Amino acid sequence: MSKYVFPDNFVWGTATSSYQIEGAATEDGRGESIWDRFSKTPGKVNDGTNGDVACDHYHRYRDDIALMKDLGVRAYRFSVAWPRVLPKGRGEVNAAGLDFYDRIVDTLLAAGIEPFVTLYHWDLPQALQDEGGWTNRATAEAFVTYADVLSRRLGDRVKKWITHNEPWCASLLSHQIGLHAPGIRDYRAALSVSHHLLLSHGLAVPVLRKNSPGAEVGITLNLTPTVPASRSAADLDAARHHDGYFNRWFLDPLFGRHYPADMVADYIKAGHLPPEGFTDVRPGDLEIIATPCDFLGVNYYNRTVMRSDKVPEEQNLPRTEHLAPREEWTEMGWEVYPDGLRQILTRVHLEYGPAKLYVTENGASYSDAPDAEGRVRDERRTRFLRDHFIAARRAIDAGAPLAGYFVWSLLDNFEWERGYTQRFGIVWVDYETQKRIPKDSALWYRRVIAANGVED
Ligand code: FCB
Repeated sequence: MSKYVFPDNFVWGTATSSYQIEGAATEDGRGESIWDRFSKTPGKVNDGTNGDVACDHYHRYRDDIALMKDLGVRAYRFSVAWPRVLPKGRGEVNAAGLDFYDRIVDTLLAAGIEPFVTLYHWDLPQALQDEGGWTNRATAEAFVTYADVLSRRLGDRVKKWITHNEPWCASLLSHQIGLHAPGIRDYRAALSVSHHLLLSHGLAVPVLRKNSPGAEVGITLNLTPTVPASRSAADLDAARHHDGYFNRWFLDPLFGRHYPADMVADYIKAGHLPPEGFTDVRPGDLEIIATPCDFLGVNYYNRTVMRSDKVPEEQNLPRTEHLAPREEWTEMGWEVYPDGLRQILTRVHLEYGPAKLYVTENGASYSDAPDAEGRVRDERRTRFLRDHFIAARRAIDAGAPLAGYFVWSLLDNFEWERGYTQRFGIVWVDYETQKRIPKDSALWYRRVIAANGVED
């Protein structure tokens, strides 16, 4: 048995997001978000549910924070619902919305838990969507105002800020593939969105720094190691393209390298960009996007194995060819592949050199339910987390400046287009009674945090 000890002060945390847990969708002046609208559109969420109640965290945040304290969690990554703070996206500020997040921050700090605040985890105010949403460059300006309002209120106490969560999802998954809100299928629009998201990030960084002296500011990307299913030239090229589409399209501009030229060429060829190129990019934008950050957040769930004949170019669905047997997939249908975390962290470190890295999400969907004694024996989740923690430790050995790890998720919650069918929590949520039961994985995680390491 080997022991994998983590560096001193390693930040062990849990993560959630506003729409997935808060509920209270119309309370205290919260405006409508694109996820309210989308989830209430028939056929969009596969169990027909929405986030109106979710985990009722809006009313139960004190208990949920007490639960985290009991687990020994050092940090909590949560997101702020923009339409709670600015119900119409810009203009009038909703004091009750700001007060809610103020109370969360104070309760966390009193519990000895450091807040990591994500500004945008996909719940755009519907009023901004009505004006074109992120296809509209003005939404980037509105985001900066929102960042300013929020950080002026919380910046004295919040010292870790994440501008965006997974811009690939907020742009391509939701505007090209159309599986997430606002459910558009228009490749060119999706690419505009990707640029405006990154631009809004770069514009917000100095604002957050000004309002939150000494804070660390970064962005979270979902990254996937991409491998060809065979050595054929066509599969190799499919893997190159997918890596560009999913990883490099975001990493390259953030680290000062412009959008990848091979991808711009592919998109022009496919008609997703006009022949003149990426015309949304105005002079100065790339410098703004490349504003140096204090850290990069990495969300990792699985790898992608590309086989050329399975990737229709017009769709480019990130379909993972599973090499592992069915028993090694989670209930999301995602292959369990812990070494991919080591691979992606090491690659990002070597190729891009971020000042610091956090794993801002990693976790697994398994539906193990309470047994007769009310205990949730989710051994598969514990094994999943242990193997990924070890992979992260190996990345640190390889030099990656990894400073923390946030398990997705604290609670079972609303899993977007899958509704409540997927349970990612280390804490079971009974959606009828809102009772919480820490699963075995949560009790195991408490021991990991206390020991600052794992054994295999
Ligand atoms: C990520 C999201 C998070 C959750 C997990 C399973 O893409 O950031 O909200 O849905 O996947």
